[in-house]
Amino acid sequence: MTERSDNTVGPASDAGPTVDGATPDSGIGRAAAYAAEEDADGNTVPGPAVAGRIVLVAGATSAAGLAVVSALARAGAGVIAVGSNAERLRTLRTAVPAAVAYQCDLADFAAVTSLAAVVHAEHGPIDGLIHLVGGWRGGGGLAGQGDADWDFLHRNVVTTLRNTTRAFNDDLVASRAGRLAIVSSVSVDKPAPGGANYAAAKAAAETWTRAVGQGFAKAGTDAAAVVFVVKALDGLEAELAARVVGLWDTDAASVNNTRVLLVPPTS
Ligand SMILES: NC(=O)c1ccc[n+]([C@@H]2O[C@H](COP(=O)([O-])OP(=O)(O)OC[C@H]3O[C@@H](n4cnc5c(N)ncnc54)[C@H](OP(=O)(O)O)[C@@H]3O)[C@@H](O)[C@H]2O)c1
Repeated sequence: MTERSDNTVGPASDAGPTVDGATPDSGIGRAAAYAAEEDADGNTVPGPAVAGRIVLVAGATSAAGLAVVSALARAGAGVIAVGSNAERLRTLRTAVPAAVAYQCDLADFAAVTSLAAVVHAEHGPIDGLIHLVGGWRGGGGLAGQGDADWDFLHRNVVTTLRNTTRAFNDDLVASRAGRLAIVSSVSVDKPAPGGANYAAAKAAAETWTRAVGQGFAKAGTDAAAVVFVVKALDGLEAELAARVVGLWDTDAASVNNTRVLLVPPTS
């Protein structure tokens, strides 16, 4: 049932995820060409350190996802955008044609395994995994922290992170500059009864991420896991995108397992 053409996306759990748009030859494979630039005097200056790296953005179609995908593509990274909704992925690719897009339910481990196989076959191992799948459920005090909301948050916030990191951990460990990043919430530090489900899911995601980072350190790799923390993302999309691009500007050991608070600029 998967349509296979340059302009369609399909479910990863079918015959395999379908690339929407650029092929490895015509699109992200050329990213390394942006790794160096010339200044006004014709001197070669290094481009952003992320240039030429392959970065997968898991949950790429929100405003924050669009900002991150755009910034990475502008910096010369090869960007693989993943979401569960074909229409939103098409909209993203219209905005950022340099990115490739795959439709995949990241909460389904078999689908993520299949996605990883296709990504490896078509683009090789990845250097970065930026996990942005989230969502909010809450309210109603502690009594209101129902099972359906917990299931939703656990699935989106924790399961998609577990699945993607398990599927791509070997890539990040083997990379010369592997990077994993998630976006957590200040509510982990100051959880409220009405947001207990949400804060607990985010705390679990942070713990999981630190475990991945501990694995990077133990393996003696140049990989790093970073937790960005926000109160709200609205208005911080560009800042987040710049921080994601900047992950490759700092050596792994000094950023691994750091928790970085992003705050809106004071006016
Ligand atoms: N928004 C905030 O104010 C805020 C505050 C604190 C922390 N955060 C965190 O920041 C991150 C980004 O936030 P956001 O608001 O941009 O995220 P979001 O809109 O909740 O999710 C990002 C994307 O994930 C995709 N997605 C959802 N379920 C998926 C699945 N099963 N498989 C694949 N893709 C899936 C969605 O696209 P499709 O529906 O097209 O698949 C969506 O565009 C999240 O981790 C969030 O928890 C956000």
